[in-house]
Amino acid sequence: MTENAKTFGSIGAESEGVDLPTEPCVMLIFGATGDLTKRLLVPALYNLACDGLLSDRFAVLGTATRQITSEQFCANLSSEDEGIRAFHTRKAFDAKRWDDLIGRFSYQAGSFDDVEHFKRLRASVEKLGEQYKTGGNVLFYFATAPRFFGTICDNLKKAGFQQGEGWRRIIVEKPFGTDLESALKLNQEVLAYWNEDQIYRVDHYLGKETVQNLLAFRFSNSMFEPLWNSNYIDNIQFNVCESVDVGSRGGYYDKSGVMRDMMQNHMFQMLAYLCMEPPGSFDPDAIRNEKAKLLESVRIYTPEEVPEHVVRGQYGPSFDDKGEVQKPGYREEKDVDPQSSTETFAAARLMIDNWRWNGVPIYLRSGKALWKRGTEIVVEFKKAPVSLFRGTPVTELSANRLVFHVQPYQGIELLFQAKIPGPRLQLQNVDMGFQYGAAFKASRYTGYEVMIYSCTHGDATLFSRSDLVEAAWRIAQPILDYWKATPAQDFPNYTRNSWGPKVAYDLLERDGRKWFEVVTPEALEQTPLFKGADPVLLNSVILAMTPRTVTRGEFIIKHGEMANEMFLICRGEVEVLNASGHCIRILKDGDFFGEIALIQSVPRTATIRAATLCDLFVLKKKDFSRILRDHPQFAEAVIDVANVRYQLTVTMDELMNYHSQD
Ligand code: BG6
Repeated sequence: MTENAKTFGSIGAESEGVDLPTEPCVMLIFGATGDLTKRLLVPALYNLACDGLLSDRFAVLGTATRQITSEQFCANLSSEDEGIRAFHTRKAFDAKRWDDLIGRFSYQAGSFDDVEHFKRLRASVEKLGEQYKTGGNVLFYFATAPRFFGTICDNLKKAGFQQGEGWRRIIVEKPFGTDLESALKLNQEVLAYWNEDQIYRVDHYLGKETVQNLLAFRFSNSMFEPLWNSNYIDNIQFNVCESVDVGSRGGYYDKSGVMRDMMQNHMFQMLAYLCMEPPGSFDPDAIRNEKAKLLESVRIYTPEEVPEHVVRGQYGPSFDDKGEVQKPGYREEKDVDPQSSTETFAAARLMIDNWRWNGVPIYLRSGKALWKRGTEIVVEFKKAPVSLFRGTPVTELSANRLVFHVQPYQGIELLFQAKIPGPRLQLQNVDMGFQYGAAFKASRYTGYEVMIYSCTHGDATLFSRSDLVEAAWRIAQPILDYWKATPAQDFPNYTRNSWGPKVAYDLLERDGRKWFEVVTPEALEQTPLFKGADPVLLNSVILAMTPRTVTRGEFIIKHGEMANEMFLICRGEVEVLNASGHCIRILKDGDFFGEIALIQSVPRTATIRAATLCDLFVLKKKDFSRILRDHPQFAEAVIDVANVRYQLTVTMDELMNYHSQD
């Protein structure tokens, strides 16, 4: 981290607390007994309260059909296992703050189609408004299924909620429609009662600091703007990997799939931020106009073009060593159709037909039950001409890459090549990195804080407008139509915990490109050698790993050979053969092998052969040696791990001696 970044971090920290609190209001939450309220909305309000950003003139009234009292509602939200104590995001829980906050909550049970219930709600809102001096402001939060939106709007009107002093604003949760037609209808329904500037459509990705920073990064730093176009950028990759499966949400997910659940909203929003033209100002509509223009420039495929540009996947079960099912496949999940054709993974190549991006493929990839959780955006620049290096050991150059780590790691990294010290001209990939945690002190937020906060201030920058939602559906619609008309024949086509289906790799390989895989510390920690290791060590190891492709039948490790490197399988299968050449195990995506080479000079005890085409990450002993020499403080931990997890007795002298040989 540079001096400047440190200074910047401390300015940010000092300025904490000088922001105005939310505007006073009563927040009326529909669907208040659901998951969203307890997991996200209430922890967000609690964060705002802890940071002095929630007005004292703020009260919450929850409503849903569940027949519970206000006391029960508050007790549930306060509970150890299903309330704030389980879901808050702060380092320490502040009971006093919470007691003050929950003291401002109440609840009223009733049905969304009962106008009398709405009249009672109005009386309560007015009473709370007087008690908390909110100036009549009301924030409606629709945390319900979209099918209730129309009825709720109608009854709010009938109960007279549109009259009176103060502002009325509505936050609407996703999904906003299930396709273009339903989104148009939903917009019509809501807009029949409210003006566009009263409607705040949430996409919680826009609440993430790292996503908001895309705009700040692009438009406050002049060095990248001249490069931000098809002259210098070869391709852009958006990768949203989830390790979770559908869990208890099978009923919802089976009607949705990843295109509706992640791409049409979260990923298209990030795409718009990264690729839009500079707005005239940071006014909400100036930004939203540019986003809408960008989404409207994305090429809309005909259904016939879809299979060439978009592929899908569905996860199958995972198996243990004995071949028994360890975890079920998607079709065996609760509330999922056993013949379901719903995609749990998708990868797409989009094109933006404007001057800036003409000819630059934009690749998107997202899925559930994958090998890691990680969202990153990779901007890959065009390669420098290698011809200049004729006559040197350099035969290939890597592309420069700018990587936005959105989550769980938050930061920005610039990858480039540097000369390895020594008499020969050899290159190695290195990085310059910025980590949020190192630069800023702020607590982790849920993403909803900024949403609620900006809505009370009437700032719609982070919310979607009807034209944006519709433009996003227009891109997704032919894909959904094609998939509906041609159910997948090859599902399930990827195993749980893998890097996704082969079709996703083929999509890029046809273009002569590859997905840029970002190995996360969590993935590296799957190997016992690195489990629980210091983050600095993990990061150094990740940077030192280099990709290698091996073809089917190729030997990766040979029995008896002296060991020099460790491998992580990115894609493909390898066979572990015993001394007599029998396959004793198959290793797949996400598995590691050969790590003993990093601890001791020993001959390999097995042979490993590629059973399919494999993409591997390799960590060479010489690179690990360099890391240990640069950070000798990690040597002790490596010795402990060798002892406890691999039953190898290694002394400090032996280890350092082993690593001084390179
Ligand atoms: C939600 C989707 O909108 O976003 C979920 O419905 C998904 O399926 C979630 O898991 C991902 O959000 P995050 O913030 O964990 O990346």
